[in-house]
Amino acid sequence: MTSDTFSINGKIAVVTGGAGVLCASICRGFAAAGVKVAVLDLRAEAAESLAAELGKEAIGIACDVLNKSDIEAASQQVLDAFGRVDILVNGAGGNKPQATTSADQSFFDLPAEALRWVFDLNLMGTILPSQVFGSIMASQKSGTILNISSMNALRPLTRIAAYSAAKSGVSNFTQWLAVHMAQEYSPEIRVNAIAPGFFLTEQNRFLLTDQTTQELTPRGQTIIAHTPQGRFGQPGDLLGTAIWLASPASAFVTGIVVPVDGGFSAFSGV
Ligand SMILES: NC(=O)c1ccc[n+]([C@@H]2O[C@H](COP(=O)([O-])OP(=O)(O)OC[C@H]3O[C@@H](n4cnc5c(N)ncnc54)[C@H](O)[C@@H]3O)[C@@H](O)[C@H]2O)c1
Repeated sequence: MTSDTFSINGKIAVVTGGAGVLCASICRGFAAAGVKVAVLDLRAEAAESLAAELGKEAIGIACDVLNKSDIEAASQQVLDAFGRVDILVNGAGGNKPQATTSADQSFFDLPAEALRWVFDLNLMGTILPSQVFGSIMASQKSGTILNISSMNALRPLTRIAAYSAAKSGVSNFTQWLAVHMAQEYSPEIRVNAIAPGFFLTEQNRFLLTDQTTQELTPRGQTIIAHTPQGRFGQPGDLLGTAIWLASPASAFVTGIVVPVDGGFSAFSGV
């Protein structure tokens, strides 16, 4: 091992959903490690303000990961600013109450538009940026793609049918793209994913905490009881794995999904 083994200093990273809770933390950690970061997010102002916080070698770009011409325009801005793309983090994703079963809404009543929204955001929102930025990596013959899957992909959680199926699609696509890029373009292009355990963020707060008292719901309590480390993740908990998967330290690692979950996926419940 050399001092460069885990180095991503000087690399260019594109992070979609970069202004969100988990990915903003990855953006901050990457910038601190010497990476020039392009923060792409549907929320233009949030992307720009995070980029301003990261310093003059970061840019914030408004980009909808479901709109290919938007992604192509963003990729041109990234190339104009930095000249290449070494790391793509496909972070945009999420769930919504309308696609979640509850006492008031059975599985049979979940509206097709809400289900489709969740599928599109998580799965198509990973595939489309991988096409655009993956093609840049194919011409460079190098790069790393990091997708964000979920615990739901291993075993589905109750209530969130579309989100579970969509994240399982993200894990499957991670393996598919890893093989495709290595065989068709370059063995130096690697594709992996992180499967975060439970992090209390805006997309799941309505499920895990009571909206008035802020106390844990029974579901939130069950999650903590099934997380051997006994807590929710902190956004910074993903950073070490993200740096490992983006750096030469993982040079022979492609097509895997790494749980960062406080032991949730290892615990049988007994
Ligand atoms: N929070 C958790 O416990 C958890 C667990 C497992 C996986 N994840 C996944 O981690 C990723 C980040 O989640 P988070 O909890 O930080 O959520 P978040 O809602 O804080 O961040 C998501 C970001 O994506 C952006 N976004 C939404 N739609 C977009 C679009 N069409 N185009 C571009 N950007 C868009 C949002 O503006 C937001 O900034 C998601 O893929 C999520 O599914 C989260």
